[in-house]
Amino acid sequence: MELKFPHGFFWGAATSSHQVEGGNFNDWTQWEKENSEGLAKAAALKKWPQYILDRYPNPLQPENYISGRACDHYNLYEKDFEIANELGHNAHRFSLEWSRIEPEEGKFNEEAIEHYRKVLQALKSRGLEPFVTLWHWTNPVWIQKIGGWENPKTIEYFLRFARRVFEEYGQSVKFWIPFNEPGTAISYGYIYGTQPPGVRSKKRANLVFANLMEAHKKIFLLNKNEKFGFQIGCSHFIFYRKAHKNLPWNFLAKKIMDHFADARFLKVFKDYSDFFGIQYYQPESVNVKLGGRIMGLVEKKTTMQWLNDLGWGVFPEGIYHVLKQLAKFGKPIYITENGLADARDESRGKFIREHLRWLHKAISEGIDVRGYFHWSLLDNFEFVDMRGYWPRFGLIEVDYKTLGRSIRPSAWEYAKICKNNSLEID
Ligand code: BGC
Repeated sequence: MELKFPHGFFWGAATSSHQVEGGNFNDWTQWEKENSEGLAKAAALKKWPQYILDRYPNPLQPENYISGRACDHYNLYEKDFEIANELGHNAHRFSLEWSRIEPEEGKFNEEAIEHYRKVLQALKSRGLEPFVTLWHWTNPVWIQKIGGWENPKTIEYFLRFARRVFEEYGQSVKFWIPFNEPGTAISYGYIYGTQPPGVRSKKRANLVFANLMEAHKKIFLLNKNEKFGFQIGCSHFIFYRKAHKNLPWNFLAKKIMDHFADARFLKVFKDYSDFFGIQYYQPESVNVKLGGRIMGLVEKKTTMQWLNDLGWGVFPEGIYHVLKQLAKFGKPIYITENGLADARDESRGKFIREHLRWLHKAISEGIDVRGYFHWSLLDNFEFVDMRGYWPRFGLIEVDYKTLGRSIRPSAWEYAKICKNNSLEID
């Protein structure tokens, strides 16, 4: 049977500047230097599968935790977009690196501005619709020095940056995403303290939440008031969350998590977004007794459940349920990220097909989903929990020694779907 997707559906993959470009200088750079040795030592205490240790860099090597030259996508973008085009993509999501465009307060770097103009031209000339993220977790060092997103001044600086890039690239870009997953950045940067700025304080996390939301609102209003005519969207990470065994205390804990992880963000996004960008990776089972969260235990009996290389549970049906939950907001939805770490490319093809099957079911029930961006186009520097290079999320494999690219078999499976705008199922 053939499952047809709506006419004009966007098919593509996503990346973010710091994870692929190489040669960046921002608040992560220093952090990576300071933490790489410690992270490699900590990794030595764990047991790793041989197929992870066989690749370079592996988790036992400090260079795994230093973004360095990354995939050198800053120079190789034409080549990478050429592959995306060959793979039938008609859209691409990427982020601008604020620290390159405005390396010093108020001093905009013309070379960097020109660079991203060329990036946009390279996309457009290959028929790839750009979805541009303004902030994918990295800050210029001068922003970090004034206290980052804890300082309300950052909102004004970010707005000035947004206005500048709106003016520079407005002719080529229709879809803009001011902030990538603010919730994840807050949790890891300000609650667990495992990524920059390494803070552990609920109070400071709440301040950052308020400032990020204020900036999101202001950018949405800037677009409206100045009649830029763009589509402004959020990109919100969402778990398919269940209360373990439906026990009442787990149910209560789930409600609290629903509020902090989702509801308080969606309350802002529903009034200040033209579309919802949704990032779905995994299910989450809330179990108070065992300390809060167990990943990947939702409905264990389903045959589609498996774990990726990071130990995250895979539950494709979850994407359908989260879409159903979000339908009430009545916004067009784009899946701005969905993917898995799978170095051997054993199950990426199946992962994509199964998620798209459930996504199609949501569409067939009237939910307005307009695009799907796989995470990621390339293997890259994994941000979350500072895992670095060993998790392999790419449709395209990157050899970090030679910078060679090889297209994984699953990328061809996805290409077939993109090219036909449909999915074949048995
Ligand atoms: C982030 C990406 C990250 C991916 C996989 C998302 O939360 O936006 O930067 O690489 O998840 O962990």
